[in-house]
Amino acid sequence: MSLYTIGDLHLHYQSELKAPAQLHDRVWKNHEEKFRKNCSKMIRGEDTLVLVGDHSWGKNLSECEADLQYICDLPGRKILTRGNHDMFWDAKKTARLNDLYQPRLTFLQDGYETYRDYALVATKGFTFEGPFYISRAVRGQRPHGDYAADAQGRIITWDEEAMEHAKKLVEREMQRLRNSFERARADGYQKYILFLHYPPTNILEKRSPFTDIAEEYGAEQVIYAHCHGESRFHDSIQGEYRGRVYRLVSGDYLRWKPLKILD
Ligand SMILES: [Fe+2]
Ligand SMILES: [Fe+2]
Repeated sequence: MSLYTIGDLHLHYQSELKAPAQLHDRVWKNHEEKFRKNCSKMIRGEDTLVLVGDHSWGKNLSECEADLQYICDLPGRKILTRGNHDMFWDAKKTARLNDLYQPRLTFLQDGYETYRDYALVATKGFTFEGPFYISRAVRGQRPHGDYAADAQGRIITWDEEAMEHAKKLVEREMQRLRNSFERARADGYQKYILFLHYPPTNILEKRSPFTDIAEEYGAEQVIYAHCHGESRFHDSIQGEYRGRVYRLVSGDYLRWKPLKILD
């Protein structure tokens, strides 16, 4: 029995593709088929697969039915968490989604699921992603840019208004996360894995409210996705950091192979 994870499938069987990069990038070509094949090779019926958000480009549930059916047809138990593009999923109506799809899919929001003696705790998270004004010398090539050259290659400034808005979203997500940890703890769980959609820190931060809460509750691993394309793979923490293991699991980063994170 194993626990696997991946994020950002960005399926669009019934909806409009909103990321042109997916049309032209080799990594994204037939990615649904690559992922389906990898899952059938790697995942057994007794395994669990946690999909950490951005499942579908559909604007509402009726535009996502084929995408969710594709996920239903993958092997193993499937747990879905919310991403910023999951318009079909209103957090307050999670129970309705579970009524429709249980036992084929589990939609995890405001609570926890279990794997062996672990509580799996998840929330979308939020990270201020700019615009940052930064030299290309530091950030490498990016397809779009809010950049201003600086001779030393330093971040010059960022969008203050967007930063203020981000603080409110982080606050709401922190409260949700804390409630979920408390529920798991009250039920006797002492081992945790934290799943976020957004990276726990942005390129300016060494720590954040999300790394703090992971440390406070002793989450062993912090899983996140959302970062697509070479230029963004190192936006946040990866590997061992202050006693936890941080892992980026966006689908294109993993080349559509789900990552095994526990046996
Ligand atoms: Fe995404
Ligand atoms: Fe995302």
